[in-house]
Formats: sequence, C-alpha cells, structure tokens
Amino acid sequence: MLKIVVTEFMDAPAVDHLRTLGEVVYDPQLVDDPARLKALAADCDALIVRNRTQVRGELLAALTRCRVVGRLGVGLDNIDLAGCEEKGIQVCPATGANANSVAEYVIAAAMILLRGSYASSDAVAAGQWPRDTLSQGREIAGKTLGLLGFGSIGQLTARLAQAVGMTVRAYDPALQPHAAIFGDTGVAASDLDGLIAQSDVISLHMPLLDSTRNFYDADRIRAMKRGAVLINTARGGIVDERAVADALRSGHLGGAALDVFAQEPLLAAPHFKDCPNLILTPHTAGLTYESNQRVSSLVAEKVLAALG
Ligand SMILES: NC(=O)c1ccc[n+]([C@@H]2O[C@H](COP(=O)([O-])OP(=O)(O)OC[C@H]3O[C@@H](n4cnc5c(N)ncnc54)[C@H](O)[C@@H]3O)[C@@H](O)[C@H]2O)c1
Repeated sequence: MLKIVVTEFMDAPAVDHLRTLGEVVYDPQLVDDPARLKALAADCDALIVRNRTQVRGELLAALTRCRVVGRLGVGLDNIDLAGCEEKGIQVCPATGANANSVAEYVIAAAMILLRGSYASSDAVAAGQWPRDTLSQGREIAGKTLGLLGFGSIGQLTARLAQAVGMTVRAYDPALQPHAAIFGDTGVAASDLDGLIAQSDVISLHMPLLDSTRNFYDADRIRAMKRGAVLINTARGGIVDERAVADALRSGHLGGAALDVFAQEPLLAAPHFKDCPNLILTPHTAGLTYESNQRVSSLVAEKVLAALG
C-alpha cells in the first residue's frame, strides 16, 4: 500500500482525495517533531510539505522509498533540489496557485502605506481627531510600481496595479528587454538602477538564491526615491531588515511591508519597535481561504499523478 506523509497544514478535501490512493499520515504539527518525521519518512512514497519542513540533510537521507515531494506553495528554498534529483525524487510545487493572494496583498499594502491613514482607530476612539496629520496621504493612481522579478506573481501584481492606475516597470535578469511579455502586459522593461531610482513603490518577487541573498541592502534602499515604499513578499534574507527599519526612522523610506524574514518565526526584533508606517505579517501574503484550497488540490493532483 502506498504511504503519503503530510507534514504541515493541508486543506481537508485534498487530504481525503489523497486517501483514495493509499495510507495518508496527516499531522500539521509533524514539522516540529523531527525524530517522528524522519521515522515516518523512511517508508513513505510521497512527502508533502509547506515552507517550514527542510527537505535536506537527515530528512532527505531518510527518504529511501519516496518518489515525489509535493510543496504546498511555490518557493523551493526549503528543498535540496539537487539532492532530490540525485535520488530520483520529483518535486512538485503549486505553481501559480497562490499568486493572486500575494498580488492582492501587495496592492493593498501599497495603498495603505501610501495613504498612511489607517492606523488612527485608537486615537479616533479615544476622542482625538487627527485629521490634519492624516490629510497628506498619497493616492496610488499615477504612481510608478517597480517589480523586481517578473515571474508569475510579478505579472499578476502588474495587472492589478495597472487596474488602479499605476505605471509598472519590471527588472528580471532572465528576460531580455525586448521579450514579448513586456509588450503583452504593457509593463516597461527596466534596468535595475533605473527601476530603484524612479519607483514610488518597489515590490520584490524573486526567489531566494545565493545570488539574491542580501540583494536589497542599505545601498539599494538609499538609492530609492525619498518617501518611496518597499514591499517584500518574496523571501526573507533578500532584504536587509535593519536597513529597512533605519530608513523608516530617518524618513527616507515612506513605508514598508515585510511578510517574510531571514528567520521565521521572527522572534524578538527590537529594531522594528516604533518604526513609522511599517506593516509586518507572518508569511501570510499567499495564504487565504481560496489559495489554500487551490494549492492543496493542485498538489494532491500532482502527487497522485506522480504516484499513479
Ligand atoms: N509570501 C508568500 O506567502 C509567498 C507566496 C508565494 C510565493 N512567494 C515568493 O514569491 C517569489 C516569486 O514567486 P513566483 O511564483 O512569481 O516565482 P517565479 O519563478 O514565477 O518568478 C520569479 C522571477 O524572479 C526572477 N529573478 C531571479 N533572480 C532575480 C534577480 N536577481 N532580480 C530580479 N528577478 C530575479 C526569475 O527570473 C523569475 O522570472 C518567490 O520568492 C516565492 O518564494 C511568497
């Protein structure tokens, strides 16, 4: 009988779908019990993970029978891809299935940060009326969005941004400036320095690789327009978090939204305390009711096809 081990949260109907093929060990907390996970992995035919399970080292070595790793998401930085290939293990991400959730998060964050007017509930309820200080917010229409990474999420974000009146530029080293995708989407191909210097909102959509670690450092933040807004839903480790906090405090950055962090969960982070116009979220940009359903059912389909 085939055995499928699921180590993190998966939508219930998709888990039931997997059960049509074999035994399913589903424990959303399994990721936090490495010894039990390793023991269960030893004779599984498929392993299904989100982004917290590190499929490398001892866990990868334990996968002696496994034929497929399903990834409930798209970033593959928690999986040793070369190691999987060596062992003949297919890796199946949920490509595109949470892209719309991330794109909506980016546009909502950009609007909130540019406007700067949504953090007044306590003051208003306490009888204050901070109308003067909150009357200088900015509209999103007419602003320039700079996308670093123009893959599936970058392209969807561009579409939503254009719908609210933004001009969109993108930098992606895998795309030639005359690539058809730019003409098809109405997005301007840009060089990196020009994009950073001219954008009102910069949103990161590249993978975490050796070449992108610490990519968005203090120098790149300094090169942004004064008052511009930075959004990172890509991966922690790409952006220098302390440099973001410093630039918010100095007023050089007009706002920032960080959904991903070099260390997750983010434990004590005193450098973020009292930073103006900062949104921190616990890696939830891609997590919605709808995306959970799409991601889980797509991965279940791919795993069943790989085992079938
Ligand atoms: N926060 C979340 O919940 C969440 C959810 C989904 C995806 N993500 C992350 O979003 C990112 C983008 O996902 P995607 O599905 O669009 O991936 P994708 O593979 O479709 O696109 C990524 C693009 O980045 C480009 N790129 C690579 N190096 C670059 C660099 N140095 N500068 C600029 N671009 C570069 C690639 O050429 C590619 O076109 C990934 O890091 C993924 O892990 C986060």
